[in-house]
Amino acid sequence: MPGATEEETMSRRTIDWVDGEIRIIEQTLLPGREEIVAVREVAELVDAIRRLAVRGAMALGVAGAMGVALGAVRAEERGEDVGAAVIRAAAELRASRPTAVNLGWGADRALAAAAGGTGAILAEALAVRDEDIVASRAIGERGADVLAGCARVMTHCNAGALAGVEGGSALSAVRVLHERGELAEVLVPETRPLLQGARLTAWELGRMGVAHRVIVDGAGAGLILGGRVDAVVVGADRIAANGDVANKVGTLAHALAAAHAGIPFVVAAPESTLDRHVAHGADIPIEEREPEEILGLGGARVAAPGSGALNPAFDVTPAGLVTAIVTERRVIRPALGERPFPPG
Ligand code: MRU
Repeated sequence: MPGATEEETMSRRTIDWVDGEIRIIEQTLLPGREEIVAVREVAELVDAIRRLAVRGAMALGVAGAMGVALGAVRAEERGEDVGAAVIRAAAELRASRPTAVNLGWGADRALAAAAGGTGAILAEALAVRDEDIVASRAIGERGADVLAGCARVMTHCNAGALAGVEGGSALSAVRVLHERGELAEVLVPETRPLLQGARLTAWELGRMGVAHRVIVDGAGAGLILGGRVDAVVVGADRIAANGDVANKVGTLAHALAAAHAGIPFVVAAPESTLDRHVAHGADIPIEEREPEEILGLGGARVAAPGSGALNPAFDVTPAGLVTAIVTERRVIRPALGERPFPPG
């Protein structure tokens, strides 16, 4: 924003580096409270990632890189071995959540700069942050081009500014559609069990001035087949070399419905979410979270006493259902047989 002070700019960022520490928007408190918390130790960052205080693939990439920088800075202050500290930090961060490939990718980028010392590690982490901001805008423009003519859009989970540094992926495209005056409404599945749609996406859309309504996840397929949606646009946590897409659990149902209805199913993600080392979606590790997340609501148990729960946090949409993958550099059309990476 022209004329914004550095403080104002930083306060809009989901994650940033300020005075030797990481600042994050504490997302578990949203939409009730908007609070920025300081993270000074790698262990605190690992905890914040596990609790989803900082979340979303792009933001996790930046967290991975900044987490390694944090390890280096603290080790240097304490007179400890920086090389050993950054290797340890990268391993702990990578293990904290398994599905979003960006987390390990960001940590590895910072780690690769370790030969240059703490200053070089931090510079690399800041470059990851800055590239994320640029990528978000490019994804938004290209995504809006792909979605041109789609006035009624459905998304899933949160792939907005809160899932990156500033703009995010899927909601970046939504924002550009809105700026172009092409958008009528966004339908926002609540995204059980942690409600990233109802809490975070709806909050972001409200701040953008975008007309939207929250729906229960199970309503998505019926609304799509009922002709109430022109396109589905989502983010991604990891995309296999063949174009299979891992995203928040519930995404696959929307993709199946979109294919059945003959409307576009568009995935918006940076190149860093494309994993050339994973051939198929079946090889993507899917995080299973605590049963308590779905057995209760607001701290009170709602499921029948004695019932257990199975809680995969993501599902995989086969490439054949994906109309387009939009990155900051290109548009890939998996449903037409295009792959992010050629075989072999
Ligand atoms: O478990 P989360 O909240 O970290 O899940 C990530 C997501 O919000 C989505 O899957 C999103 O669409 C991809 S992140 C840009």
